[in-house]
Parts: sequence; structure tokens; C-alpha cells
Amino acid sequence: MNSPTDKPFTDPAGTWNQRFETDAYVFGKAPNRWLQAQAAPWKPGQRVLCVADGEGRNSVWLAQQGLQVDAFDIAEVGVAKARTLAAEHGVNVNFSVNDCDGYEWRAAAYDGVVAIFVQFADPALRERMFAHMVKSLKPGGLLVLQGYTLKQLDYKTGGPGQASHLYSGDLLRTAFAELEIATLTEYEAELNEGHGHRGMSALVGMVARKPDRRTPHERPPTSPRTRRDSRP
Ligand SMILES: C[S@@+](CC[C@H](N)C(=O)[O-])C[C@H]1O[C@@H](n2cnc3c(N)ncnc32)[C@H](O)[C@@H]1O
Repeated sequence: MNSPTDKPFTDPAGTWNQRFETDAYVFGKAPNRWLQAQAAPWKPGQRVLCVADGEGRNSVWLAQQGLQVDAFDIAEVGVAKARTLAAEHGVNVNFSVNDCDGYEWRAAAYDGVVAIFVQFADPALRERMFAHMVKSLKPGGLLVLQGYTLKQLDYKTGGPGQASHLYSGDLLRTAFAELEIATLTEYEAELNEGHGHRGMSALVGMVARKPDRRTPHERPPTSPRTRRDSRP
């Protein structure tokens, strides 16, 4: 979803609140397919953080899988819709309204961190946000991320209109050098996520694990495992 000017927002909370101010779920109520395909290693009861979760489609689906989910977003209108979605499905998600810089990131707290289309971030904010995400993972925890690649500037079927906000496999490999990349795939696919992400899209999906340097004796009995398949 491009802004009218394709310039960075001066008021991100206001801009996103305005976008979410509609009965429709802008990105739909169903979970993102990349996330859905990659979430199998997490087991019920494990703890996952959804970064910039919007209207809750991903956090609510994760809670339905029996996970304990924390989620935040800058847009209170989006978070209100997320709470409604959670209630519709009878699940609990610990939602809060926060921006990435203000969020109280907990160190080594999560078995999973989920970052689906968090490309509001310019390179400086992205660097801070990615560092927080890595810090929040427990040893052995998994980061599941999806974003648009540069080619999305041609498709214009969603995402920011600024090249500096888009990803490439190399950018992610460098940014997450501390993690062990399990899957990193650039691909094109038709998205059908509400009216916000619709049509042929240039995508990258990643799953990466925080190295676990604990001895086998120190590890909990069920550490998340990584699946080898990549496409959703
Ligand atoms: C493209 S939407 C993706 C929402 C959600 N991850 C999903 O896949 O449905 C981007 C989200 O980022 C949120 N956002 C924008 N700037 C933010 C910031 N600085 N901190 C936290 N959230 C932000 C917006 O409110 C919006 O919900």
C-alpha cells in the first residue's frame, strides 16, 4: 500500500490510524501465508512477539495455535481492531499501542519474533528495530520475517514506495549476521491480503535462528526446530 506521495510519513500513527479507520480489515483477517507456512516449529505454550502487528491477523492466528503472544503497533485504531479480532476468535493476545523505539523490548524473552511487512522503517529505524528483535529472542528462538523486495516498485501492489525501505536477500543476510539463516527466499507470488496487499508481488521470506550456545544439559527439553521447506 503506497502513500499518496511515496514520501516517509511525518505522522506515522496518524497516517496508519486513518488507513485502519474502516470496517474492513485492510490486510484481511487471515494470517500471512509465509508466517503460516513457517510457524510449525513453535509449540503450544511458547512465547512469540508480533512486531507492528496492525489489525492482529497474525497475532490472533498464532494465539489460536496455542502460543502465548505479545503484539504491539503504533496505530491505536489497528490495535482496537486486533482486540476485536481476538475476541471474535476467543483467544488472548497481550496487545499494546507502541512505536518501535518506545516499546519496552524484553531481552531473551521469546521463542519467536514475527516481523511481517514492517517496512515503515527507514534504514536507521530498521537497524534499531532489527537489533531489538534479535535481542528479544531466546537462544534457539526463531525470527520469521517477510517483506517486499526492490522489484515491488514495479508491481506497486502494496508496500512502501521508497527503495530504501525495501529488502533484498543480501540486505537481510548482512542485517541478521548474528543469526543462523535457516531459510531465505526471494520469490514472486500473488498476494490476496485484504485490499492492502493484492496482486502479483515481489517478496522475500526469511526464517533465522538465534544461536544456542547453552550446553545440552542447560537447554529446555523442547527447543523449536526449523523446517527446511521455504515457500508458503
Ligand atoms: C504494512 S502494515 C503490516 C501490519 C501487520 N504486520 C500485518 O502483516 O498485517 C505496517 C504496520 O506498521 C505499523 N507501524 C508503522 N510505523 C510504526 C512504528 N514506528 N512502530 C510500530 N508500528 C508501526 C502500522 O501501524 C501498520 O500496522
